[in-house]
Amino acid sequence: MDRSSPTTLPTAVQIGGLRIEPNLVLAPMEGVTDLSFRRMVRHIGGVGLTCTEFVPSAALHRGDNKFTRMVEFDADERPISIQLYGKDPEEMAAGARVVQELGADICDINMGCPSKKVCNNSGGSALMREPELVRDIVRAVVAAVDIPVTVKMRSGFDAENRNAPEIAWIAQEEGAQWVAIHWRTREDKYKGERAVDKIAETKAKLSIPVLANGDVIDIESARAMFEDTGCDGLLIGRGAIRNPWLPLQISQWQQGLPITVVNAEERERVMLAYFDSISAVFGRSEKGALGRFKMLANQYSRGLPAGVQFKKKVLHSLSGEEAREHVAEYFEKLRRHEQGERAVFEGYKAKEWVRKKKTG
Ligand SMILES: Cc1cc2nc3c(=O)[nH]c(=O)nc-3n(C[C@H](O)[C@H](O)[C@H](O)COP(=O)(O)O)c2cc1C
Repeated sequence: MDRSSPTTLPTAVQIGGLRIEPNLVLAPMEGVTDLSFRRMVRHIGGVGLTCTEFVPSAALHRGDNKFTRMVEFDADERPISIQLYGKDPEEMAAGARVVQELGADICDINMGCPSKKVCNNSGGSALMREPELVRDIVRAVVAAVDIPVTVKMRSGFDAENRNAPEIAWIAQEEGAQWVAIHWRTREDKYKGERAVDKIAETKAKLSIPVLANGDVIDIESARAMFEDTGCDGLLIGRGAIRNPWLPLQISQWQQGLPITVVNAEERERVMLAYFDSISAVFGRSEKGALGRFKMLANQYSRGLPAGVQFKKKVLHSLSGEEAREHVAEYFEKLRRHEQGERAVFEGYKAKEWVRKKKTG
C-alpha cells in the first residue's frame, strides 16, 4: 500500500473569494448530516466544507419550521453550504435567497437524488433528463444570489444516458462555480461497478472546478479518485459515517503528515459526544435521538472487533440509557483488546470479524 503523500495532487479549491482547504467536502446526506453529525466531523477536522441535508426550496421559502431547523448551522461552521432541491426555477431562486439570508457561504443545487419522492416531481437526478430545465434553474438561482452556486449530480440518469459532462457544461455556462459528480447513475442507486470516466471527461471539458464523489472510504480510494479523474476535490459521504476521522486522515496524507490512529477511548468519546449533541437537538423526543444514534452505530461499528454484535445490541436498545450501557460495555472490552487481552472477544464469530481475520 503506497501511502506516500501526493506532490502533484490539488489540496484546495478556490471559488470566487472563497477558499476550500482542504479540498475535502462532507457530502450532504439526508437523515445523517444534521448539525450534530457535521459538528462531530468538523471537530475532528479535515473537512474544508460541510453541507446540510437537502431541503425542498419551496418549503424553505415558505418558512416551514421543520426545514428551517434542518439547515441550522453553528456560528463557527464555516464555510457551510446549504443544499436545495426542486424543479421550479422561480421557486429555487426564492429558496436560494433564503439560503443567502441565513448566511450560508454556498448554495448547492441537488441534481443527484435518486429517490422516487424527489424524482417523481422531476427534482433530484430526474433533472438530468431535462437539460433545458437545468439551464433555467441554474440561471435563476445564480441571478438570485451573490453567494457561489454549486451543482451536485450523478454521472447520468441511467447507463444509456450518462450525460454528466453535458449537464455540467450547462451549469458552468449559467454561472455555477463548481460541479460535484457522484460516479453512479440514478439507476445504479447505491450499487453498480465503479466507473469514474464521466467525472474525468467532465473535468477535461470544464474550466470550473469538478469535485468527485462515490465510495471514497480510505486513503487508497481517495488517491485513486484524484488520479483517475483529475478532479479538484472530493466529496465524502458514507465513508465519514463509518469513520468520521476519514477526512482528517486523507488531509494528513495530502500534507505528508502522520496519519491519526484512533483508539477505543477516542472512539467512545466521539460516539458519546454525538449522542449528547443529538439528544440536545431532539430534546424530549428520546426516540428521535436514539434513531439517529442507531444510524451512526450501524456504520461506526463496521470493521471493529465484534462490531457486528455491538451494532446489534445498540440497534435493539429500547432506550438511550440502554444504548449507552452497551457503548460503555463494548468500549471497555475494546480498550482491553487493544492492550493485548485478545481473549476478550473470544467466541465472536461474526462474519465480518472472521473475514477480517482471514484477510489480515
Ligand atoms: C443516507 C444518505 C442520504 C443522502 N442524502 C443526500 C442529500 O440530501 N443530498 C445529496 O445531494 N445527496 C445525498 N446522498 C448522496 C451522497 O451525498 C453521496 O453522493 C453518495 O452517498 C455517494 O458518496 P459516498 O459513496 O461517499 O457515500 C445521500 C446518501 C446517503 C447514503
